[in-house]
Amino acid sequence: MATNRTFTMLKPDAVEKGHIGAILDKISASGFRIVAMKLTQMTKHDAETFYAIHKERPFFGELVEYMTRGPIVAAILEKDNAVDDFRTLIGATNPADAAEGTIRKLFANSISENAVHGSDSDDNAAIESAFHFSGREMF
Ligand code: RTP
Ligand code: MG
Repeated sequence: MATNRTFTMLKPDAVEKGHIGAILDKISASGFRIVAMKLTQMTKHDAETFYAIHKERPFFGELVEYMTRGPIVAAILEKDNAVDDFRTLIGATNPADAAEGTIRKLFANSISENAVHGSDSDDNAAIESAFHFSGREMF
């Protein structure tokens, strides 16, 4: 599997607050090329499947509720070292711990509502991309 792609979602809080344009600007300015993108809304089943790794965690119900409450922007991004570089660009899970200038520092409210998702490995980037996009939606 190629190691130069990652998957992201601009989460419902970011979309609700009108931050799509500002976040996409930052992503583009950081050298990522958008190779797939859509506005979509996850069903409860979608969110439970996407975040299945967290199903035993105490915040799972809240996470599914949050991720399904409104539309998200799903996208696939291409850049050398995409997975790690994108995790650096978004910052720590908890915006209180995120570095200055990161997307979560700039746009997130809390550890629960943290504006953006980034894949944590090349394998998960491929799985998450295929979850949201068909082959003919990737460029
Ligand atoms: P993501 O998968 O969304 O990119 O976030 P992440 O890797 O930084 O964090 P992860 O541990 O995978 O957690 C997934 C999402 O669950 C929510 N969360 N809430 N209330 C809490 O303590 C808590 N912890 C995590 C966040 O929306 C987090 O991004
Ligand atoms: Mg994660």
